[in-house]
Amino acid sequence: MVDFSAMEKDLSSILFNEKQIETRVRELGELISRDYSGKNPVVIGILKGSLIFMSDLIRRLTIPLNIDYVAVSSYGRSTDSSGVVRIVKDLDEPIEGRHVLVVEDIVDTGLTLRYLLDNLQSRRPLSVAVCVLLDKPSRRKVDIKPDYCGFEIPDEFVVGYGLDYAENYRNMPFIGILDRSVYEGK
Ligand code: IMP
Repeated sequence: MVDFSAMEKDLSSILFNEKQIETRVRELGELISRDYSGKNPVVIGILKGSLIFMSDLIRRLTIPLNIDYVAVSSYGRSTDSSGVVRIVKDLDEPIEGRHVLVVEDIVDTGLTLRYLLDNLQSRRPLSVAVCVLLDKPSRRKVDIKPDYCGFEIPDEFVVGYGLDYAENYRNMPFIGILDRSVYEGK
């Protein structure tokens, strides 16, 4: 048993353990493999948050596919969205005429995905769909509904399994609620 207590002490609770995440990722993999059969999609991960989810998910996809990544500017050190989104690393390949599946860690206000989806649509792909691991629907500011979603969660700031606070906690293999004492007053 690996001991993550040095980071786990900052959590108020664990939301999803490794087993629960693995089971859900397998289910999503089956669903997406069925839906994209014969479509040879390009699966686009949004860095850095989707890194771990993306690598687990694509190993559950049984269809031929390509992968690519974009990096967008994130929250920085805060827990609230600034609404300002910027592509800091673009795709390596064109997506014109391709079926695109965007993989994101979490959709919160929806501002990041809205910006990115509009940007990708302008490149004339055949289709664009979104797979998120976590959805916080109560915080939405723009109308976005993911096509595939791992778990809906309440309005709490969560870390682990790729998700960070100030670039920390990404390497925990489970997802937990960050204790407010860690970021309140900052
Ligand atoms: P949105 O633009 O508000 O939907 O935010 C999307 C981005 O904010 C995600 O890709 C995450 O990087 C970050 N984010 C939103 N909520 C959380 C959270 O609870 N924990 C960690 N990152 C979050």
